[in-house]
Amino acid sequence: MSEWWRDAVCYQIYPRSYMDSNGDGVGDLPGITSRLDHLQWLGVECIWLSPTFPSPNEDWGYDVADYYGVHPDLGTLADMDALIEAGRERGIRIVLDLVPNHTSAAHPWFQDARSSRTSEHRDWYVWGDSKVEGEPPNNWTSSFLGSAWGYDEGAGQWYLHNFLRGQPDLNWWNADVRDEFDRIYRFWFDRGVAGFRIDVAHMIIKDKELRDNPPPEDSDFLLDHIRGQVPLYNSNRPEVHEIYQRWRALAEDYDESKMLVGETFVPSLDQLMAYYGQGDELSLAFNFPFLTAPFEADGLCALVERTEELLPNGCVPVWTGSNHDMSRLPTRWAGGAPDRTRCALLMLLALRGAVFLYYGDEVGLPDTDVPLDRLLDPVTIKLQPVLNRDAARTPMQWEASDGAGFTTPGVEPWLPFGDVAAYNVASQRDDRSSTLHFVRDLIALRRERPELRTGAYTTLYSRDGLWAWRRGDSTVSAVNLGESAANVDGARGTVLIGTDRARDGEKVDGALRLEPNEGVLVGEELSS
Ligand code: NOJ
Repeated sequence: MSEWWRDAVCYQIYPRSYMDSNGDGVGDLPGITSRLDHLQWLGVECIWLSPTFPSPNEDWGYDVADYYGVHPDLGTLADMDALIEAGRERGIRIVLDLVPNHTSAAHPWFQDARSSRTSEHRDWYVWGDSKVEGEPPNNWTSSFLGSAWGYDEGAGQWYLHNFLRGQPDLNWWNADVRDEFDRIYRFWFDRGVAGFRIDVAHMIIKDKELRDNPPPEDSDFLLDHIRGQVPLYNSNRPEVHEIYQRWRALAEDYDESKMLVGETFVPSLDQLMAYYGQGDELSLAFNFPFLTAPFEADGLCALVERTEELLPNGCVPVWTGSNHDMSRLPTRWAGGAPDRTRCALLMLLALRGAVFLYYGDEVGLPDTDVPLDRLLDPVTIKLQPVLNRDAARTPMQWEASDGAGFTTPGVEPWLPFGDVAAYNVASQRDDRSSTLHFVRDLIALRRERPELRTGAYTTLYSRDGLWAWRRGDSTVSAVNLGESAANVDGARGTVLIGTDRARDGEKVDGALRLEPNEGVLVGEELSS
């Protein structure tokens, strides 16, 4: 019970896009509170809120100007307290999004730091001098491309920004920075938050000597070729693990129920596993090799097996298919095919460990085609159509009405809606055969059948696009991601749930034929 997150179904909310309670076209905390009934009905146990702190919104909240407050667009501290309490009453925990790698340039710490070379907060940030006149201190590129260094005229030095110029990196070698973040954790833990998602968890500490990054080799990650370098010295440094040990100890000092889940965007599973430590670092580490893989049976099966093999003793995986930085799973994985979307949701909810759904996944919401003149994310504006984050950040679609149940009728939402008639909560709630009911029933099955939550994962086979696995002793999952119908051999029992709901309850006697884009969970009869 205390480590509830080990097999939890969590749900990520992009707060500006969930529910607008005051008719300004922007979602807010009271709006989220007013929609907790939906989440309770769905069966989720925890909500991760993308950043809720005051911010100039250059990077839509990932540029924090005060770690102890709430963005006025979203509400007040009292609204946050009310959300935490209302969640508690419904068994839904609240997880905040902490951004320790960088602050906003508008943060008073950075304002002080840049005011003089001897200011109190100067060393809280990463500063460097040109080695060649007019050139940045080294060759590091920002994750959003271009040099990672900004020149500060006033201070006559360069500051590091691994993201936008308005997001200066904190100096995690500085003991005061570490102490300050301990205070931030305590402040929110004291208010009742259940944990944190840690932004760019793999990046927060950098090479002390600021060495140049090397050029990529043929075998390196595609992104390294785009950047023209492997981020060897500004990412995934060995010293980062001390920080996670410290934070896990701090969290456990509260109680074991505090969760830390990291945005561990590292290219290999070996690198990923290091973030669990020996079970003494992050509680959960997001699996980007899985999240960014094509939706193909062989590849996914191999990734899941390898993840299970490599996990340190006692640690659990976490699975997710969508988030606020990438194309939503119904588009990216399922190519817009509703049956394939259901296969993806079944897969996520039938693997061992924790699951994070993204708001809208439950109604199969695909990416929204946001017109160029409505784009708001600076990274999307720079990199679209290669990367379009706004497409996955549009408002939740609650009902097919003016305002979509998200905002007051007649009010323009901050980002446009997608196809509200085709994807909305109200009409899917009225339809027992909908994706929404499918997700709810899958979550309920996880509760009813403990081996779906904690039972060991065993691959049965992956061939010709058909991937079948067993959970525990008696639950078989299979998805047919190939182009032809295929038989799940050997299963005997009853279909617990199918992507085609007409198959629920069907008796299975040794072979079960699945059409392309069809998936099932089968409860086996165990021979004694
Ligand atoms: C990762 C976040 O998920 C993304 O939205 C943000 O732009 C960068 N970190 C920088 O904070």
